Amino acid sequence: MLLAFADERPLARRLRCELAMVVEHRFPDGEIKLTLPPSLPGHVLLLRGLQQPNERLVQLLLTAKTARRLGAKRLTLAAPYLAYMRQDIEFNPGEAISQRIVAGFLGELFERVVTIDPHLHRIASLDEVMPGSRGIALAAAPLLGAWIASQWPAGKGPLLVGPDEEAEQWVRAAGEATGLAGVVCRKTRHGDREVDVELPPIDLMGREVVLIDDVASTGHTLVQAAQALRARGVAAIDAAVVHALFDAPAVERLHAAGIRRIWSTDAVPHASNVVTVAPLLARAIADCD
Ligand code: R5P
Repeated sequence: MLLAFADERPLARRLRCELAMVVEHRFPDGEIKLTLPPSLPGHVLLLRGLQQPNERLVQLLLTAKTARRLGAKRLTLAAPYLAYMRQDIEFNPGEAISQRIVAGFLGELFERVVTIDPHLHRIASLDEVMPGSRGIALAAAPLLGAWIASQWPAGKGPLLVGPDEEAEQWVRAAGEATGLAGVVCRKTRHGDREVDVELPPIDLMGREVVLIDDVASTGHTLVQAAQALRARGVAAIDAAVVHALFDAPAVERLHAAGIRRIWSTDAVPHASNVVTVAPLLARAIADCD
């Protein structure tokens, strides 16, 4: 049985499992009450992406504990976007290392956590933060690469550009799937909305490029990369991200910076979704049975 919240019904339906809903009531003071089907099978799958994660983490806590009480012996979480993976070290003394804490929390609630392109930078695999092979990381960057390649005639594809060193893994995965060449930039972050992006020293004059990254949020990383690319005389810039976490003004910001088309996967629902991760998730979920 697949449990899902109402706002994730479209992706849930594409997973083609027996679907039941978690019904949420919100009290005036902000607390929530969740209602699950009163009787559950031994293995329950819950679909809940962790964009806007703080409230959703409470939903997961309440759902998982209730599902156990109602008969579930094995719980699998399908979280297409796994939040808090970017804070993976103590950058300044006293900071919470959110990646370890959140991954540990989910690993205690669920036997398996299936996710897509988690932002793992300084660690190689989810096992390091979610022991016991509980975490399963799927790769959507090759699907995004295939979409990008399909937008150009064969043999005339664009150059893939990762806006920072951490994007190297997604540039590589998309490149391996399609044969598209790629490069990565160097990014220096000064604050939530202040970044500098330095391009590699290659000739970009007249090239068509696609910026590719796992996550875009405020869009400033892509904006700075686009500005640097325009200064080098590129012919066109498009952008593709796995997780479209965009805040409200981000899309406008990207177009104003000269980004022509914005593409994403439906790992996070957004108007820019062009690639579905449903088959990827469905295969991984079938393997969890
Ligand atoms: C960080 O390294 C990520 O891959 C993204 O580049 C970053 O989160 C994008 O954030 P924003 O869109 O706010 O610049």
